[in-house]
Amino acid sequence: MNKIKVMTVFGTRPEAIKMAPLIKEMERRTDNFTSITVVTAQHREMLDQVLHSFNVQPDYDFNIMHQGQTLNDITTEVLQKMTSVIQATQPDIILVHGDTTTTLAASLAAFYQRKTLGHVEAGLRTWNKYSPYPEEMNRQMTDNLSDLYFAPTEQSRQNLLLENHPAKQIFITGNTAIDALKDTVKSNFQHEVLDQVPAGQRMILVTMHRRENQGKRMYQVFQAMKDVLLVRPDVEIVYPVHLSPAVQKAAHEVFDDCARVHLIEPLDVIDFHNLSARSYFIMTDSGGVQEEAPSLGKPVLVLRDTTERPEGVAAGTLKLVGTDYDRVKNEMLNLLDDPTEYQQMSQASNPYGDGHASQRILDAITEFFKEKK
Ligand code: UD1
Ligand code: UDP
Repeated sequence: MNKIKVMTVFGTRPEAIKMAPLIKEMERRTDNFTSITVVTAQHREMLDQVLHSFNVQPDYDFNIMHQGQTLNDITTEVLQKMTSVIQATQPDIILVHGDTTTTLAASLAAFYQRKTLGHVEAGLRTWNKYSPYPEEMNRQMTDNLSDLYFAPTEQSRQNLLLENHPAKQIFITGNTAIDALKDTVKSNFQHEVLDQVPAGQRMILVTMHRRENQGKRMYQVFQAMKDVLLVRPDVEIVYPVHLSPAVQKAAHEVFDDCARVHLIEPLDVIDFHNLSARSYFIMTDSGGVQEEAPSLGKPVLVLRDTTERPEGVAAGTLKLVGTDYDRVKNEMLNLLDDPTEYQQMSQASNPYGDGHASQRILDAITEFFKEKK
C-alpha cells in the first residue's frame, strides 16, 4: 500500500498539545505515513511554547495572529491560506482538532477541496449554542463536515449517533491529551514560582480565558478568589495568565496588590502539568484542564455554567460552579474547609483513555484507506 499523506492542522495551544502526540506517532510510522504539519498560529507565543516542548517543526506556518483579531479575521485568513496549501500538497486526509476557529475554517477549506476530513476530539457537546462561545458551534459544524470521527469517550460517540453521523465512521479512541500527559509529571519537579509559595501553604492553580467569561463574570470570580484569600491565610494562588489582552487587564487590575496571588506568564505544558500535580486544587474555565485533572486526582471547580466534559463530573473530580460571586466564594471555602468533600473529589479516575489515542487514530485511518483501495 502507498503511504498515506496526512495533513494535521492546528493553531492554538490546546490543539497543539493534543495533536503533538499524533505527529510523534506518525514519526514512528514513517513506512506508512507521510506527515504534513500546518500551523495557522492563531496563537503565536503560546503555540510556539508547545512546538518547542514537543519538538515539532511545522511544514507550513500561516503566522496569522494579531492583537484584537476577530473570529471573522481568523476564519477568512485560515480559509484562504489552507486552500492554497491543500492544492499544493494534495493530502489524502486532513486532521483537525477540537473546536477552535482554526478547526472550523480548516474543515471548511478541506470540504471545499473535497478532501477527506478527520475530526480528533469529535462529539463533545453542551447543546447550548452560546456556551462555550463560539466553540460549541465550531465543533458541531466541524462534525457536519467530517468523514472520520475520533471520539474520546462512549458519551461523545453517543452524541454523534444522536446527530445521525454514521456509526462505522466513529471510533472511540480516548483523548490524545492523556497521551501527552503520560510522560510529563516528575516527582523531582522544580519551578521558581514554587519557591515563592512558602512550605505548608495550600496552592490553588487558576486559569481563566473563555470569551463568554470576559468582562463582568471574570471580575466577579477574581474578586471572590481575592476575598477568600483574606479569610484563609494558608492559601496562595498561582495563575499563569492567558495572553489575551482582556484577560491580562482583568487579572492585573484585581490581583496586582495581592501578595499571595502569583500572576505569571503562560507556562509550558510540562511545567503546567507538574504544577497541577503539586496544587491543592484547580479552578479553571479551560476545556483541556478538565480532562487532565481527573488523571492527576485533583479537584477542579469549573468556572462555567456548562461543560462538554460530563465524564469528569460523573467521576467526581469536576464540579460546575459557574461565575457568580457568592457561589464561587462558597464553593472555594467548602473545598478548603471540608476534608470529606476534598477527599471525595480527589480520587484519581481517568475517563479519558489510556494514553494510546494517537495509535488508535492512525490504526483507524490505515483501515479506512485499506477499504477504499
Ligand atoms: C482560543 C480559542 C479557544 C481556546 C483558546 C485556548 C477560538 C475562537 N478560541 O481563544 O477555543 O480555548 O484559544 O487558549 O478559536 N494572544 C497572544 N499570544 C498568544 C495567544 C494569544 O498575544 O500566544 C492574544 C492575542 O492578542 C490574540 C488574543 O490573545 O488576539 C486572543 O486569541 P484568540 O485565539 O483569538 O482567542 P483565545 O481567547 O485565545
Ligand atoms: N496549559 C499550559 N500552560 C498554561 C495553562 C494551560 O500548557 O499556562 C495547558 C493545559 O495543560 C491544557 C491546555 O493548556 O493541556 C489547555 O489549554 P487552554 O486552557 O488554553 O484551552 P482550552 O483547553 O480551554 O481550549
